[in-house]
Amino acid sequence: MALLEANSNLKLISCDPFQKDDYNDSGLKKIQAANLQERHTHLNSFSDRALPKLLEEKASFDLIFIDGDHKFSGAFVDFHYAAQMTKVGGIVVFHDLWMRALILIRSYIKKNRKDFVEIKVGSSNMCAFQRVNKDSRDGMAFNEFYNRQGYLKYHINRLSWERKTVLGKSIFKLKTIIKKT
Ligand SMILES: C[S@@+](CC[C@H](N)C(=O)[O-])C[C@H]1O[C@@H](n2cnc3c(N)ncnc32)[C@H](O)[C@@H]1O
Repeated sequence: MALLEANSNLKLISCDPFQKDDYNDSGLKKIQAANLQERHTHLNSFSDRALPKLLEEKASFDLIFIDGDHKFSGAFVDFHYAAQMTKVGGIVVFHDLWMRALILIRSYIKKNRKDFVEIKVGSSNMCAFQRVNKDSRDGMAFNEFYNRQGYLKYHINRLSWERKTVLGKSIFKLKTIIKKT
């Protein structure tokens, strides 16, 4: 909605296989209600299936927003395809940088992808990379990217979110008390 409303020339492709079952199509209904549906195509598909198809069709984009499967494998595969379809000068944005998987993908790009440079965004929970060149890595290219950034924060948040253990339940309670005060 924000993207479609911000720019009347923009065409948007979104991808979410759970829009109907998990969200009762609420996003699609809102786009329809705002009469923005003509510039929007929704792919009812997992991104790891939709993105290679788009690449095969030679699609290219000015902006790609990655905020689907937040597992390392899912977000990494999304980036793998997104990177190839981002125009030089275009931007790839990631959400949920509080998560270890996303922190490590950011680190992977910074250490391994000279064709992308990180640009500033106004939220610490997001990061963005601009494509500045073609991918010129050779077949053996690899730079270490593992780090421990956000390790404790992520695992504490996850324990409290799951609330399966005594520790997780206690952290959840403590966070609720802190929020109320
Ligand atoms: C955290 S929500 C973000 C939604 C939206 N980007 C926003 O900011 O409101 C993650 C979304 O990704 C979808 N999703 C989860 N796994 C996916 C996958 N493998 N491919 C595409 N979408 C996926 C979920 O159904 C959900 O709508």
